[in-house]
Amino acid sequence: MPTSPELATLTALAQALGRPADLAESLHAALATVSEALGLETGWVWLLDEETEEPRLAAARALPAALREHPAAMHGDCYCLSTFRDGDLRGAANVNVVWCSRLAKLVNDTTHLRCHASVPLAAGDRRLGMLNVASADWRVLSEDELSLLTTAGALVSLAVERSRLESARAWALAAEERNRLARDIHDTIAQSLAALTMQLEAADARAETQGERRLGEAVSRALALARSTLDEARRSVLELRAAPLEGRSLPRALEELAAEARETAAHPPLIQVRAGGFSEDGGDLPAAVEVGLYRIAQQGLANALRHAEASRVDMLILREPGQVRLGIEDDGIGFDPAAPPPDRFGLIGMRERARLLGGTLAVESTSGGGTVIQVVVPLGIAP
Ligand SMILES: Nc1ncnc2c1ncn2[C@@H]1O[C@H](COP(=O)(O)OP(=O)(O)OP(=O)(O)O)[C@@H](O)[C@H]1O
Ligand SMILES: [Mg+2]
Repeated sequence: MPTSPELATLTALAQALGRPADLAESLHAALATVSEALGLETGWVWLLDEETEEPRLAAARALPAALREHPAAMHGDCYCLSTFRDGDLRGAANVNVVWCSRLAKLVNDTTHLRCHASVPLAAGDRRLGMLNVASADWRVLSEDELSLLTTAGALVSLAVERSRLESARAWALAAEERNRLARDIHDTIAQSLAALTMQLEAADARAETQGERRLGEAVSRALALARSTLDEARRSVLELRAAPLEGRSLPRALEELAAEARETAAHPPLIQVRAGGFSEDGGDLPAAVEVGLYRIAQQGLANALRHAEASRVDMLILREPGQVRLGIEDDGIGFDPAAPPPDRFGLIGMRERARLLGGTLAVESTSGGGTVIQVVVPLGIAP
């Protein structure tokens, strides 16, 4: 079957991105394929940091010396990044050097990079970054070339998203294992050491009443050793529990989130946290569920404090058979959940976290009628 050059390029690109390699390596290979197919020697990829949305250079190919030797020139904003942030850059677009403030700075440089094309990288509504290709000659890319770039952008976006999901999963598995170890140490070694300490305390008291000085000294030493080992075991349990809960159970961490808000907000509403259905130490949820729900609650509470003008906020965390339920409710001004502002990501992130845990997030809000956010996450399903 005859193969068109575009199809050959896309096949090569899919192969480069499909390999289970390090993301930076895949991005380099993708840049090489795209740049070569279009005859543009230079290319680079910006990825937005998942937490801060700050752009960082994730891969680059044949950057002009001025940019390579002065990496600071690749930092900071430029026309393409701000257009992209404003949501105006939807598909692949020609950007000439007059508009690209970053390359414009280099016009007099010996490299003479003259124009570049930018392709936004995105997963659904979420912006991931941008892929740029540039050339020294003044050339406007054809419609066909731009559409090839758009498809290349979609493939690169998929690879970025997949790699992020894989790291999130690896992190969740590691956190799960750490929590399991923490529970084991808590329930076995720490319990036995606590019992041993009690026995030794009894023996110590007895040695003293019976005037057995030498025996008393030996028991005291054993007791001090048992106590310090118990302290160490407890410290290990705390250290092993997954960040960002820092050793606290989810109900406890939510309680502290509320306490912090009460202290730091300018005019804090009445904030209440209720928990139900948890074991005494509250630490028996899968780590990924704990962390995901904590992050959702953190954003939900921040939204209520920032936007709702509420007089009270209630958080409820309930462990039920087969699922956990998190509710965040305020009696504030409400909003229209069907028409969210286009460039905001708090609610989108909350929804995605719920979905990644196999759960759902529902928002009910009416103007003047407050806001209720309900998250339900199933248990017993591997995250
Ligand atoms: N509890 C709430 N009460 C009133 N309005 C809210 C509430 N939660 C969200 N909103 C509205 O929904 C919008 C989107 O919320 P979202 O968390 O996605 O973005 P944000 O808080 O504005 O910005 P960020 O991306 O920093 O979180 C807010 O700008 C606000 O108008
Ligand atoms: Mg928000």
